[in-house]
Amino acid sequence: MQEQIDQYTSEINAFAPANAAELETFRIKFLGTKGIIKDLFDQFKNVGPEDKRIYGKVLNQFKQLAETKYAELKETFDSGLSTQASELDLTLPGEGFEVGSRHPLSLTRNEIIDIFKRLGFVVAEGPEIEDDWHNFSALNFPEEHPARDMQDTFFIKKNNGKDDIALRTHTSSVQVRMMENGKPPFRAIMPGRVYRNEAISARAHCFFHQVEGLYIDENVSFADLKQTLYHFVQELYGEGTKVRFRPSYFPFTEPSAEMDISCTICGGSGCNMCKYTGWVEILGCGMVDPNVLENCNIDSKKYTGFAFGMGIERITNLKYVIRDLRLFSENDVRFLKQFQTEII
Ligand code: PHE
Repeated sequence: MQEQIDQYTSEINAFAPANAAELETFRIKFLGTKGIIKDLFDQFKNVGPEDKRIYGKVLNQFKQLAETKYAELKETFDSGLSTQASELDLTLPGEGFEVGSRHPLSLTRNEIIDIFKRLGFVVAEGPEIEDDWHNFSALNFPEEHPARDMQDTFFIKKNNGKDDIALRTHTSSVQVRMMENGKPPFRAIMPGRVYRNEAISARAHCFFHQVEGLYIDENVSFADLKQTLYHFVQELYGEGTKVRFRPSYFPFTEPSAEMDISCTICGGSGCNMCKYTGWVEILGCGMVDPNVLENCNIDSKKYTGFAFGMGIERITNLKYVIRDLRLFSENDVRFLKQFQTEII
């Protein structure tokens, strides 16, 4: 009898029902009117008087164990954890799910795209793996230009320059593709990821995101460029944001400029975001070099145009005061969930 009880005790201790039906089987088996405990008590009647004291105690303890186990499990199932269909309460509210948030770079990119779309620009895309022609040669990069050097460019295949294959270093390559495959006028922006072989730090990364733009038609002038970009800045950063253009150099534009805006953090009075100058640079721009137009079979006597290019990271940093570029690609949820949630 002792042996039997020991065996049942371990069975009860190990019992873990998956649903209320299993628990009910347990109840019938041990505690039912024809159950094991009833049976053991029947056997107990035949135990000799000297053993009665010992077994009486053992048996009562065993009965208590079975009853407590049953009571505890029943409470668990009754409290709603049961998965049995008959016990499902379909009137209970459903489980909520969290709506994610947009990545800050996507928010900025979408905002930039929206502004230019309202000005009649379309969105163009192209491959991230590019050949030398589209990334460099067609854009008037001289053979020995340092930007072609291994230091800046991730080459996938390095041949003799002309046949090199690389990760695109800017989305200007998409402008070339567009001009080659179509007829002016062109009015498009090219958002996308670009790659440069830089050591990763708070201020530089081996990839980042750009939006470039291209506008080609008859009689497009530098005044059009200035007005378009001025309007863009007012839309993005608010009325009254000042702009200034500084002469610069890009192989594919002539003349070229860099555009600064009055610091969005301090409003121009000087802070460490603008290195106490009151101005921050946000993009490069210029009139498309006639050589580039000719490379893409566009008559440079008839057509002129402007181009510009900006880094989405930089624009986002200024908007949300983010000082470390690495945050954008670490996917730390604590960082990401601080940005606007879009209701789908
Ligand atoms: N392609 C340039 C860059 O990546 C940006 C640019 C585009 C400058 C168009 C001028 C005109 O830095």
